Amino acid sequence: MIIALFGASGRLGQCVIEAATEAGHTLRLHYRAKPAEDVPEFSTVVVGRLDDPTAVREVLRGSDAAVVVLGHKPDARVPYIADATKLIVNTMKTLEQSRLLVVTGAMIGEQTGAVGFGMRLLGMATRSRSADGMMEDRDEQERRVKASRLDGWTVIKPPRLSDGPATDVDAGATQGVGLRSSVSRKALARFIVKELEAPQFKQQVAYVAGR
Ligand SMILES: NC(=O)c1ccc[n+]([C@@H]2O[C@H](COP(=O)([O-])OP(=O)(O)OC[C@H]3O[C@@H](n4cnc5c(N)ncnc54)[C@H](OP(=O)(O)O)[C@@H]3O)[C@@H](O)[C@H]2O)c1
Repeated sequence: MIIALFGASGRLGQCVIEAATEAGHTLRLHYRAKPAEDVPEFSTVVVGRLDDPTAVREVLRGSDAAVVVLGHKPDARVPYIADATKLIVNTMKTLEQSRLLVVTGAMIGEQTGAVGFGMRLLGMATRSRSADGMMEDRDEQERRVKASRLDGWTVIKPPRLSDGPATDVDAGATQGVGLRSSVSRKALARFIVKELEAPQFKQQVAYVAGR
């Protein structure tokens, strides 16, 4: 499978590269700047901005699926993710591609019964404390994916991420997550690759918690 990855330089992005490569897949990687790290053999690096349609198209070109693991940098909190995701979705449509996995977070978007009370409270407190529009950027990202009309969208909603080893995970639209839940980036990356290989959550949200 050829996987287009947005957020390749990030911590989860690096774990996705490792898990996908181990599973024998090829990657088309988006970076904002030339990567300092080595990239796997046979993968393609595209350096560019995510508001540049040519760069986004080049990342997606010829791929079987797209994975978006973009986040906000603590030192440069600019709301760009909803717009970048919209451009990715629209470009996929013009390329007649449909499989899109987007990682947001358990505190983002609609707070269903899967999200524990404490986590909901924390989400509300975070929103009222930070007036910088970052949470709203992610809410809008999620809305745009769900409204995309792509046949193969999946929104992946982890609780806290850790840098621990790859454990097994539990996942699903009603999988409970709370303040004590976490999942390692390595485990989440493996889940993403498994979901690409054998889709279970097309047109669904999946909360993912490590065991
Ligand atoms: N941390 C948690 O506990 C937690 C919990 C739930 C969900 N999540 C979500 O999980 C995902 C992955 O998290 P992570 O910790 O792996 O994130 P990360 O290491 O901070 O990586 C963020 C990625 O976004 C890219 N990025 C940031 N600003 C950008 C911009 N303006 N234009 C283009 N790319 C930009 C970064 O590129 P550069 O390297 O070039 O800056 C990097 O590739 C994120 O969506 C995050 O919100 C995290």
